[in-house]
Order: sequence, then structure tokens, then C-alpha cells
Amino acid sequence: MAQPTELAISDRPRAAVCASSVHASVAGSTNGEQASIQQWAKAFIESTSLADKIAPPAAPLHFDKNVDEIRLRPGRPAELSVEEYRLRNLTAAALRDHRKRAFLIHTFWHHELQAAELMCWAILAFPAAPEAFRRGLLRIALDEIRHMGMYAQHLESLSFRVGSFPVNDWFWTRIPMAPSPSAFVSAMNIGFEGGNLDHGLRFAERFDEAGDPEAGRIQRTIVEEEIPHVAFGMRWLARLAGDATFATWQSKIASPLSPLLMRGKMLNRRARARAGQSEEFVNALEHW
Ligand SMILES: [Fe+2]
Ligand SMILES: [Fe+2]
Repeated sequence: MAQPTELAISDRPRAAVCASSVHASVAGSTNGEQASIQQWAKAFIESTSLADKIAPPAAPLHFDKNVDEIRLRPGRPAELSVEEYRLRNLTAAALRDHRKRAFLIHTFWHHELQAAELMCWAILAFPAAPEAFRRGLLRIALDEIRHMGMYAQHLESLSFRVGSFPVNDWFWTRIPMAPSPSAFVSAMNIGFEGGNLDHGLRFAERFDEAGDPEAGRIQRTIVEEEIPHVAFGMRWLARLAGDATFATWQSKIASPLSPLLMRGKMLNRRARARAGQSEEFVNALEHW
């Protein structure tokens, strides 16, 4: 997911956690065993352990029946310093600086964390939604956690770690405004994950140009794997709201969110078509 963001690379030393060492210590995770998917989702969102965020225990198979709607805020591990910053000057030339590239990859890692947490948030916020919908959210959350691992590994190859840079909880300030499952998939899956199909392709090209083809490869893989997440949003918007036209989608996006925040300068038409967006939808988005 991409966001309007100034790269303010801090030279302050930070506590940092090595992703590979965290994986090795997961058996002793403080998250423990949860009996239901809801308990697992709640523990993942609220945990203040970086080890639990990076490698939570295996998700249970079953949902609790008859649970109340709950709307949670995320726990933040001490290693992650939450700050408001904006990423700027992310040209291929600027990204030749490996520290700057690492900061961007760290930001992408944090986007994946927020996505995973927000899918869990929706599982708990919309307990009356069809089980297939909530199960789909869980599957996506697990994909996002895997994406976190891909970024964390590359970060380590650049001699940085999760926690080496600040994070900005931008998505957490917007997505929980969604009042319904259809509003959630409109903002999150179709909106921000859809925007990532555009941004991701652009950044893959820049990583290649900056001399980091491995970062480019990771970016392309993640873009491919985000297509089903966007498709999930399109399918469920149609099912819950009657159709998934641009007008219906836009009607579900509450201010201050806007389609403008949910696309790149160049639209990834091929990926968007594979995600189920019609030419009319993509044209309307492009001209918004
Ligand atoms: Fe992802
Ligand atoms: Fe995703």
C-alpha cells in the first residue's frame, strides 16, 4: 500500500529486531495459543511484542459463534517508533542510497503490518458478515504477514532491521472509519490495495534502476499476490452492495478518503483487469 508521505531519515540509533532471529524464537511467543480466529485476531492486533507481529502462532480453524462487535486499536512494540513523516524524493537516483532504499522497504513492511492488522480489525468489527467474508479476510491477513517477512529479509540484506526506522500508522487513522463490510473493502481492498497495484509496479522499476533487482523482484511478487486481495474487494462489494461499479465504490468511500489517494499516476491496467475492474471502472478512476 502506498500513501502520500517526506523521507526524514533519522540517524538516531533505534532498538531493532532481526527478523530471522525472531522466527527462531516464535515457539516461545507471548501470544500463546488462541482457541478461535477472533481470539487470534485480537491478540495479533493488540500485541506489543514485535516477535508476535512478525511471526504470530498458527491461526485457529474456527470462529467463535455469537460474538459482539469490537473495534480495536493496535498495540505497538517498543522497537517501533510511531511518527508522522512523509516520504519524498523517491526517484531511482535517490534510491541508489541504500539507507534511503532500506527506509522505503521498512515503510512497505509497515504497510503490510497495518494491512494484516486491519484485516483482523474487520474480522472483529463485522462479526455478522458472512463467514466466507471473514475467512477471506483471515487468508489475506496471513498473506500480508508473509509479505512482511519478504521485506524484513531484504531489509536485513541491506544491513538494517525492523525497528531501524520510524513508522507512520497512517492507514490506522483512516480505515477504521469504515462503518460496514462494503465500506471496508471499498477503502482497503479496492482503494489502497488497488492503488498498490499501480505504485508497486512503479517502485519495482525504480528498484531495478537503482541497482537493486532483488527489491524489484520482491515488489513484483507482492503486486502479483495483491491482485487477489483487490479481486476479493470487488467480489464482496458486488455481493454486499449489489454491484461493483465505480459509482457504487465511490459512494462507499467516506471523506477525507478519496479515489485520488487510491491510484498511482500511471494505472496498472493489466493487474486491475485481472482483479476484476472493468475498463469503465479504470477509466473513471483515471479521470477522477
Ligand atoms: Fe501485502
Ligand atoms: Fe494485500
